Amino acid sequence: MNILAIETSCDDTCVAVIKASKKGFKVLSNIVSSQIEIHKKWGGVYPMLARREHQKNLAPVLAEALEKAKNPKIDLIAVTIGPGLEPCLWVGLNFAKALSYYWNLSLIPVNHIEAHILINQPKDFPALALIVSGGHTQLILVKNIGKYKLLGETRDDAAGECFDKIARILGLGYPGGPAIAKEAKGKSSITLPRPMINQKNYDFSFSGLKTAVLYKFKKRYTRDLAVESQQAIIDVLIKKTLKAARDYRVKAIILGGGVSANKELRRQLKQKAKGFKLLMPDFKYCTDNAVMTAITAYFKKPQDSRKLKPDANLRIC
Ligand code: KG4
Ligand code: ZN
Repeated sequence: MNILAIETSCDDTCVAVIKASKKGFKVLSNIVSSQIEIHKKWGGVYPMLARREHQKNLAPVLAEALEKAKNPKIDLIAVTIGPGLEPCLWVGLNFAKALSYYWNLSLIPVNHIEAHILINQPKDFPALALIVSGGHTQLILVKNIGKYKLLGETRDDAAGECFDKIARILGLGYPGGPAIAKEAKGKSSITLPRPMINQKNYDFSFSGLKTAVLYKFKKRYTRDLAVESQQAIIDVLIKKTLKAARDYRVKAIILGGGVSANKELRRQLKQKAKGFKLLMPDFKYCTDNAVMTAITAYFKKPQDSRKLKPDANLRIC
């Protein structure tokens, strides 16, 4: 079965085509049209500009994805319906609805967080997912595919948002995660707090870390602050993840979302998560993409193909 997926939850316009079967998935095309250049000067995503760019880019990105996949017969359409930036989600959803009516194909709604989990194709349950992106920081117990329990999440800024805001303070540019990772070499002479690290819950808080950086910032400390803020975020993420993994006796730990592209986070988690199977996406599938949307739709589609119909009432969530 060939699945065409559309993902516009944030600032990337993504269309992918995959060939899916019980044996596995083959990616026929994976197009991501980045808006980084446009949002750079704001130091974060400007939702209305992102919406305008999605409107402009979706048709050409679709054409490119189909051509790259060698114009296969499409059997199913998948689309992200949330969570994400509402104006952006509507552009993708309306585009997908129009396509599904025009081609008379079913449309499968996909949850963006679930897609960041299922890109890892977990097989061992229960598992624990740490989803760390620009909009979310969540620890989710994965009892099975489709069966989830939110154990904890950030009470303020997401981990990626914290990277982005600190990078803006340090003048390192946007997106902040890769910019800080590039700057964070060597040891730091500065110490920053690890918010909520010793609390017994599975929640996070990152806004205080950003404020601490703001107070300590002096140009000559840029590198030290990059090293220390990256390490503070990693320490909290790993400590809470391992606590939840042990408390719930999971078999596997799953990493997902844009921040999972951080090499130090991956290296230190690998080192400390001994005894657990560790699933981390390929670098190209850490940040937003539509391959994860397509794979999730395959997992979530009804077994009975008669239940697959175009759905005019699909809404964002
Ligand atoms: O999952 P994603 O592409 O979009 C959302 O759903 O939010 O995540 C984007 C976030 C940004 O905040 C970005 O700074 C962060 O992921 N990010 C990173 C790295 N690459 C992207 N954070 C830390 N290290 C990285 N290498
Ligand atoms: Zn995402």
